[in-house]
Amino acid sequence: MIDRRRFLSRALALPLIGASTAVYAVGVEPNLILQVKRYSLTPARWAAGLTLRLAVMSDIHAGEPFMGAARIRRICEAVNALDPDVVLLLGDFNAGHFFVTRAVDAQQIGEALSVLRAPLGCYSVLGNHDWAHGPLLTSPFDGAEAIRRALRQAGIKVLENDAAPLMKDGQKFWIVGLGDQLVDATGWEGWIDGKTGQDDLHGALAKVSDRAPIILMAHEPMIFSSVPKRVALTLCGHTHGGQINLPLLGPIVGDLRFGPDLVYGHFESDERHLIVSGGLGESVAPVRLLRPPEIVEIVLGATDASRAEWVGW
Ligand SMILES: [Fe+2]
Repeated sequence: MIDRRRFLSRALALPLIGASTAVYAVGVEPNLILQVKRYSLTPARWAAGLTLRLAVMSDIHAGEPFMGAARIRRICEAVNALDPDVVLLLGDFNAGHFFVTRAVDAQQIGEALSVLRAPLGCYSVLGNHDWAHGPLLTSPFDGAEAIRRALRQAGIKVLENDAAPLMKDGQKFWIVGLGDQLVDATGWEGWIDGKTGQDDLHGALAKVSDRAPIILMAHEPMIFSSVPKRVALTLCGHTHGGQINLPLLGPIVGDLRFGPDLVYGHFESDERHLIVSGGLGESVAPVRLLRPPEIVEIVLGATDASRAEWVGW
């Protein structure tokens, strides 16, 4: 009798655990949690004595009902509360899946982002979803013109194979932004047929006219293997940190084509540093598990240990 009861309770527990995990992954984690993921590091190529606080937003993937303009604005206010010196946006503003009931267009995205405040300014690169289509996956290609214009109107400088010099406490550093690596200038995903995207790392770095430290923004992390030691820190998004991370199996969504090594977090190789953000929105489906939406705070030139903080709303 006891064995039978035990058997029945175990038989019921498994589907209950599965159902509650599904409810959490669909209803709670992608929509009700915002993580502030903090890193603190001093790369070898950073300027001695210069402390810089960066706030990073990536992969917003706007679209109702999951990522409307009001939610984007609330995330921006959380970014402002970090009191960053600079805000960096790593691309993929447009929707990334078909479960969107109403588009959030480029102008609405720009209006929401216009609340961002940082004394040294806001800078952005564009992602594959900004190049391949408009606000919805089915929207026509426009050469990313609408989102580029909306960002500029919001006071955000768009860097596509370009470099911007900045100054803090009398010390100079550079923000360099790379063109998208996956989609070519016609909206075709060039990576599929072995052609390259629009990235020109050599040309972008050639615009850096002195030996001041460089922070490189690139939507996809596969560029990291080509980044020279000259770059102090490379910042990427695109992978959504795997988006769905199953115990034992690891990440199963997000773009894993470039190997599991660069999916999420802080990597150091040969004096070069890379931080990959898990992003804010989703692709494929509006589901996240064990990789909640995050904004990233990076303090360069300080010595505190990294820590993550969870914010529910
Ligand atoms: Fe993305």
